[in-house]
Amino acid sequence: MNRILQACARQPVDRTPVWFMRQAGRVLPEYRAVRRQHDLLAITHQPELCAEVTLQPVRRLGVDAAILFADIMTPLIGVGLDIRIVERTGPVLAEPVRDLEAVRCMRPLAPEEDVPFVLETVKLVRRQLPPDVALIGFAGAPFTLASYLVEGGASRTFEHTKRLMHGQPEVWRELMSRLADLTAAYLKAQLAAGVQVVQLFDSWVGCLSPDDYRCAVQPYSRRIFEALEGAPSIHFGVDTGWLLEDMAAAGGSVVGLDWRVPLDLGWQRIGGDRGVQGNLDPMTLLAPWPAVEAEARRILDRAGGRPGHIFNLGHGLHPDTPLDNLVRLVELVHSS
Ligand code: CP3
Repeated sequence: MNRILQACARQPVDRTPVWFMRQAGRVLPEYRAVRRQHDLLAITHQPELCAEVTLQPVRRLGVDAAILFADIMTPLIGVGLDIRIVERTGPVLAEPVRDLEAVRCMRPLAPEEDVPFVLETVKLVRRQLPPDVALIGFAGAPFTLASYLVEGGASRTFEHTKRLMHGQPEVWRELMSRLADLTAAYLKAQLAAGVQVVQLFDSWVGCLSPDDYRCAVQPYSRRIFEALEGAPSIHFGVDTGWLLEDMAAAGGSVVGLDWRVPLDLGWQRIGGDRGVQGNLDPMTLLAPWPAVEAEARRILDRAGGRPGHIFNLGHGLHPDTPLDNLVRLVELVHSS
């Protein structure tokens, strides 16, 4: 029985499935040991090692899913963009993408040639994964990818991104259109190689107004979900309180909720024909276990045992999270 897949199909499960965003990397001592010898991109380029890092959290934490170890920038690096992943900072571009010329330099993705190591990792992981543990593939959503490309790195204000979106709409549409096609090709190749669910990370989309989301982002995310032709999928964003209905309308069997939205109210807004994933505040996990337990029980109560809930955090794990809290949290979710 694969409980993640059942939850994606909103079928009843004998226990709520659980996994954690950013479970591979950061918190695990066995990941840190690998990381001391290889940087992030070097790990992703070695399928044996990358499969190992993908499997580490399954062994250590007993979660119901493995998430492919890669980065949202992996396919963009694959098509030749000059991007580095800087420790504790994230992706950094040598030259930001801010005009039509730069956008037109972005060629389509040919997954077998541009990211063969990702597809090889997927095959290796699937061979080693027990049948009741799902393999989740992922990609960055067009808006979140565009924000890194246009800003040249992380941003708090998204000033260049919004200036381009409003000031040069034709350049924006071309950029988003290319990113949507690239992402669709990337996710389809992951599915063909053996991932069973895909998560689209629109991590920074919560910075937009609902009108901007609908006009400038939703059509491109929708294009990706349509290309997946019904494959199980999770649509994730942070701080998306006012965008939830529109994100659900773009697609996803399951919609991610962060901790700012009470799970039952968020679920109501998304509609009963979708599942939800979430929504523990990752910082709660830095507190002693009784506080974690109380908060996790509140979330499980709000889910009320309805089919279609995948327990997760509202965003990625903090690097200082005590491992013991994670192990106990998985046990608690499984026994509730
Ligand atoms: O368990 C997993 O989730 C592992 C696979 C994974 C990574 N990045 C590896 C990684 C996934 C799913 C991602 C997604 C990702 N990458 C997102 C979307 C998820 C989110 O958190 O919203 C984003 C926005 C990125 C871009 C990125 N890459 C950032 C912001 C950082 C953080 C920089 C830092 O060190 O805090 C990275 C680097 C990165 N990607 C790490 C890992 C494990 C950091 C650790 C390292 O360098 O080994």
